[in-house]
Amino acid sequence: MNAEHHVVPALAPRGHLVMRESELVAWGERFGAEAHAPLVVTLTGELGTGKTTLAQAICRGYGVEAPVTSPTYALIHEYASPRSPVYHIDLYRLSSPDDLTQLGWDDLLLERALVIVEWPERAGARLPAEHVPIALDYDPDDESARILLAG
Ligand SMILES: Nc1ncnc2c1ncn2[C@@H]1O[C@H](COP(=O)(O)OP(=O)(O)O)[C@@H](O)[C@H]1O
Ligand SMILES: [Mg+2]
Repeated sequence: MNAEHHVVPALAPRGHLVMRESELVAWGERFGAEAHAPLVVTLTGELGTGKTTLAQAICRGYGVEAPVTSPTYALIHEYASPRSPVYHIDLYRLSSPDDLTQLGWDDLLLERALVIVEWPERAGARLPAEHVPIALDYDPDDESARILLAG
């Protein structure tokens, strides 16, 4: 198998990957290209670790042509792609999992859609058990690198 076709590079020790921004973007675009709806992807990590950057890359790889912007205020942005609807969700400002109801959370999870969630921990028990967890962290040794953990 061609190494380029591994979503997670085969040699990544214990799933930890240290990536520069261009590598993270390339990884996200490849992940998006290989994603199949229905799929929930969660992006965990402190502010500035690159969750939105990665979400944008996944959307691009999935076929979203519109510019993807951070859903900081609207919490949910919906995009069209030739493959399915895409929901990019940022729950940072969600005060309680109960507030998910009015956002249409339950309905969008029933759709055949790609759903990308930043700050998934805010959803509590309402986060579907079946999802692909991705975590991003700062690299203490290099401010332009991030550590990615997938799966
Ligand atoms: N290796 C890297 N991967 C991702 N982003 C990086 C990296 N190095 C620097 N950055 C910068 O970090 C910031 C990440 O911002 P953003 O994606 O909005 O993070 P978050 O959504 O997690 O708050 C961007 O300004 C980006 O340019
Ligand atoms: Mg963000």
